[in-house]
Amino acid sequence: MHETILILDFGSQYTQLIARRVREQNVYCEIYPFNVPSQIIKEKRPKGIILSGGPMSVYEEGSPQVNKELFSLSVPFLGICYGLCVIAKEYNGVVAHSDHREYGRAELEIIKDSDLFVGVPDKSQVWMSHGDKLDTMPSEFEIIAITANSPIAAIRHTSKPLYGIQFHPEVIHTIPGVDILRNFLYRVCGVQGDWTPAAFIEETIMRIRRQVGAGRVVCGISGGIDSTVTSVLLYKAIGTQLTCVFVDNGLLRSGEREQVEQIIRKHFHIPLRVVDGAKTFLTELKGVTDPEKKRKIIGKVFIEVFEQEAYKIGGVEFLSQGTLYPDLIESVSFKGPSATIKSHHNVGGLPETMKLKLVEPLRELFKDEVRKVGCQLTIPEEILKRHPFPGPGLAVRILGEVTEETLELLRKADKIFIDEIRTAGIYDEIWQALTVLLPIRSVGVMGDHRTYDKVVALRAVTSVDGMTADWYPMNPQLLARISNRIINEVKGINRVVYDISSKPPSTIEWE
Ligand code: XMP
Repeated sequence: MHETILILDFGSQYTQLIARRVREQNVYCEIYPFNVPSQIIKEKRPKGIILSGGPMSVYEEGSPQVNKELFSLSVPFLGICYGLCVIAKEYNGVVAHSDHREYGRAELEIIKDSDLFVGVPDKSQVWMSHGDKLDTMPSEFEIIAITANSPIAAIRHTSKPLYGIQFHPEVIHTIPGVDILRNFLYRVCGVQGDWTPAAFIEETIMRIRRQVGAGRVVCGISGGIDSTVTSVLLYKAIGTQLTCVFVDNGLLRSGEREQVEQIIRKHFHIPLRVVDGAKTFLTELKGVTDPEKKRKIIGKVFIEVFEQEAYKIGGVEFLSQGTLYPDLIESVSFKGPSATIKSHHNVGGLPETMKLKLVEPLRELFKDEVRKVGCQLTIPEEILKRHPFPGPGLAVRILGEVTEETLELLRKADKIFIDEIRTAGIYDEIWQALTVLLPIRSVGVMGDHRTYDKVVALRAVTSVDGMTADWYPMNPQLLARISNRIINEVKGINRVVYDISSKPPSTIEWE
């Protein structure tokens, strides 16, 4: 068992970010709702507990309150924002509700040495986001840092390892944030840092062997990083008991099927079945223009095709998929206060219908950790750094009906766009780049002829996790080049536009 830090979620939008920052320090952590039973906490034998921020006020009716026994556990605590108020309230401090929220940058001034601030400059920039603040100090605590607006910006217990901070160390705008969290983990909690990609791989292989025994496993792959890492881990663990299934749904980009085959079959020598499902998918999508209907049809057909394949392989007991930790946190947080995380689905519905037992080797990892594991497994960079691609594929990038013709148009335009981005050396700066075929036609002129053709929209965004995104400010000369190439080389498209919307309010995909 790894040294574990528990993070109790009081509904902060940053809870996942705290977990990522802890993991980045090679320390394993898990997120639980604020009211998790003490028994579960004890079983986890945490080296420390972090109390997250939250949107409510501690005295507000219905505000999240911790179980009484929590503070009887003799482990180090770090309370962040609302977490600070929770600690303060427990120790008879007074929290005041302030009418105007303090939001944004502030200068933190350390006024007393402590383990938490070792190596942190006396004055540094931190990020505040709170309505409540501490008015009267809790007993047995002392102030260790202040800001201009918060005379109590950080506190510590005079004899126990209990710390509270008003600012958010997990956001990048808090310049010494990483150092502060690291100090809490290594100096206050005394961890050694035993959470590494190599350790994860070794343990996961053993765990898969224990779970699967001599059973057969199918793993649906898409060519994306999560399913590729999943299949490589499985193959290392159980060899030919694994069969990967790649469904070509006809909604893929140019050369995608060949690329996936190349990597899984030739690079890793994993048994692979490629199912040609294009006809089935396109027949079912005929005449459908509603985005939700498209998604539902694709999901349904995908299950059917997959089921048939599992049946053909025979004796399959397990289904493996690349579920990541954020998917699980979402279900935890749903019961807790932060219910706003958007649901992402890759093979939604599969397990129930197929009654197969699930193998999910990546269920404890965040995306960036999957990349590190992938790197350790020598998965080629082209997969590790690949932009995300949605399960329903080009169908959600063709507004209107999906046909062989519209698919062909979009594939050609998309290839030009991505090739040019790669050539310009900006592919890795962009989180996701895509093209969208619009269901309208516009007038143009080519040579001496009038054209009345389709419009393609280019979209490129920067993002950390796809939950929010900014449109990428692409060089106008590069845009001109891409536009010229698409209009000249893709017959049927006579207009190119660039999408300058951020998420929110727009989503990344158009459908
Ligand atoms: P949106 O469009 O919601 O997308 O801003 C956020 C990220 O999720 C991807 N996406 C999907 N991925 N199945 C997936 O596996 C889906 O149905 C799906 N829909 C959107 C999208 O490409 C972006 O990276």
